[in-house]
Formats: sequence, C-alpha cells, structure tokens
Amino acid sequence: MAAKPFLTDIQTIRKRAREHIDQGAVTAGYHADRKTVVKLLNEALATEIVCVLRYKYHYYMASGINAKSVAAEFLEHATEEQGHADRIAERITQLDGAPDFSPDGLSTRSHSDYVEGDDLVDMIKENLVAERIAIDTYRDIIQYLENDDPTTRRMLEEILANEEEHAEDMATLLEQLGKKGEPAKPAPPRRDLVVTRPSKAAKPKKSHGKSKKK
Ligand SMILES: [Fe+2]
Ligand SMILES: [Fe+2]
Repeated sequence: MAAKPFLTDIQTIRKRAREHIDQGAVTAGYHADRKTVVKLLNEALATEIVCVLRYKYHYYMASGINAKSVAAEFLEHATEEQGHADRIAERITQLDGAPDFSPDGLSTRSHSDYVEGDDLVDMIKENLVAERIAIDTYRDIIQYLENDDPTTRRMLEEILANEEEHAEDMATLLEQLGKKGEPAKPAPPRRDLVVTRPSKAAKPKKSHGKSKKK
C-alpha cells in the first residue's frame, strides 16, 4: 500500500540523467531557453570584459592629487569585473555554450561603452554610467529567467549586488571630488578621435567624454 512516489521520481531522474549524460549540467528539468540564456550571458561577458578594459585604462591614466586612492579603487573594480567575467564564462560552458572572448565585435556585444574620459572626474562619471547600465541589464535578465534557471539567476543576483556596490563607490568618489577636475595623463592621439579646438584664444570647453553610439 505504501507507494513511494518520491523514490520513483528519483529513479526516473537518475535514469534521465544517465541517458543525457553528454549534456553535462543541462538536465531535462532545465526549463529556460538555453540558447537565449547563453546569448544573454555572452553579452554580459562582453560587458564585463569592456568594464575590465575601461577600469584598467583609468587605473593607468589616473593622475593628479587625488589619483592614488581613486586609481586603487579602479584597480579593485577591474579585478572584480574580471571575476564576474570568469563566473559568467564558466556558467556558459555548463550550459553547453561557448564563451565568446573574440575581440571582434566586443564593443557591439557589450551593453556599456568603452569611454576613456578626460580627467579623473570624467573617468568616475563614465564608470558610474557603465555600472548603472550593468545594473539595469542584470536586473532585466534576472527577471527574464524567473525560476527557469535558478543557478544562473543566483549567480547574476550576486554579480548585480556587486555592481550596485561599484556604482555606490563611484557615486561616493564623485561626491568627494566634487567638480574639481583632476587631469589625466594626456591620451595618445587616436585616428578615430576627431579633436576640435577653438580657433581663437577662447577658453576651451570641457568635454565630458560622452558615450559613443552603440
Ligand atoms: Fe561586473
Ligand atoms: Fe561593476
């Protein structure tokens, strides 16, 4: 009389697990659209890589009286963004996908832009913008996943919490530095940057390093 439905379920689950053993962590109970999740994760991976590059550039280019402590913060964030990238790449492989590390189209795949910034305050502002984009994007992906892929969702929730800390760090630095611009080291001339200078002795307008189009 004492039926053991739970045990039966376990046996079914074990049987299925053996049948689809080549699919690794993706079991029949995986309800999300795997291809879409891999695509979203690859976009997140590109975003993280761009964040690493931007923070690294800012770390090396920060200069001025406040530069040391701010640069240390940039470096810490770069390291943490690298950690996010690694976790996302790992998860992509668990979902039988391939992490896209190709430099071709990296900035197109990324949700946020790579903006160098003109001075320390500009750099902090650009990082704050990028963090806010990352926060919104991760929140959207988490909502999309719902309960269909709890492992990916949990990972993204942890990364999201870290991005919120990053945004808070940048906002605090911005408050501390106020409007005092600290000069960055002069960036080497780039072919894709058109620098327009006032023709007369007028005071040059300060550029805010606006985001380029996606
Ligand atoms: Fe990140
Ligand atoms: Fe971040």
